[in-house]
Amino acid sequence: MSLTGKHILSSDLFDRDELERLFRLADLLVPVARGEQVTRVLEGAVMASLFFEASTRTRLSCESAFLRLGGAVSSTTGSEVTSMSKGESLADTGRVVGGYCDLVVMRHPEVESIHEFAAATNTPVVNAGNGAGEHPTQALLDMFTLHREFARLGKTMDGRRIALVGDLRHGRTVHSLMKLLSRYDSMTIACVSPAELGMPAPLLELAAARGHRIEESDQPATALKDADVVYTTRLQTERFADKPMPYSDDFRIDSSLVNRVCRADAVIMHPLPRDSRPGSNDLSADLNGDPRLAIFRQTDAGIPTRMALFASVLGVADGIAASLRPA
Ligand code: CP
Repeated sequence: MSLTGKHILSSDLFDRDELERLFRLADLLVPVARGEQVTRVLEGAVMASLFFEASTRTRLSCESAFLRLGGAVSSTTGSEVTSMSKGESLADTGRVVGGYCDLVVMRHPEVESIHEFAAATNTPVVNAGNGAGEHPTQALLDMFTLHREFARLGKTMDGRRIALVGDLRHGRTVHSLMKLLSRYDSMTIACVSPAELGMPAPLLELAAARGHRIEESDQPATALKDADVVYTTRLQTERFADKPMPYSDDFRIDSSLVNRVCRADAVIMHPLPRDSRPGSNDLSADLNGDPRLAIFRQTDAGIPTRMALFASVLGVADGIAASLRPA
């Protein structure tokens, strides 16, 4: 399957062969992401970056990825500074913006937004997060991080125990990640959340139908034991109509819990941002010195992964190896 010219709205699109092709390309692009090598395969191309919801990592890493491939970026943040504040529809906005660029990256707080926008244009649209729906490029970078972590640890992806922890109901990164994990074989996927914040049933059913063992639990201390990967998420306070229920202290992933129950070779991940405000039970900063904590290796993986995706969607991936030169 070729990604050239496709909208990237869901991680459904990526099968195992496609993931492994993207990882090989992203591995090749790591020195470009670090500024050690240069390529200009996207010279003359323009990316429109539309973020109608807050972002640090996704917006800046998408823009850096496009710029480091030699392209140019045109950017807007917040619908109040676009003509949507005058009542323009997402469909009209999609038709117009698609005429100004070669690729659109869009984040929007509503689940249906990305579909309405993409239906109005033939210019490829990349979903950078649609409400509590999906975040496919985050899942790609998470899987690329695992590909590199497991290579370092001498493990394969198949047969691993993965614990997904936190607000699995509203967390769009874990929705996209479930679909990609399901592409591998014989996983045990432990979904660990308060009962009200569980993984949506269709995603549990998808993974089970592909032969994976699914466990659901509200007990992190038990579920994290023997996990090869602990992927924890923030309580998505912005998705609650009323004041969100707080997590119990049992959901605080800190050095005390990790040192008590986790494997010595566990990989501890979080899509970030983590909530450091008083009263939050998000991933603790007291793990920052723990080599098992992969959160900043994840953020660094964002640029080569998104470069590999953009180059593939714009049909220039095959030219990258020959184009690389020292910085
Ligand atoms: N992980 C993630 O989507 O981060 P941002 O919200 O900062 O883009």
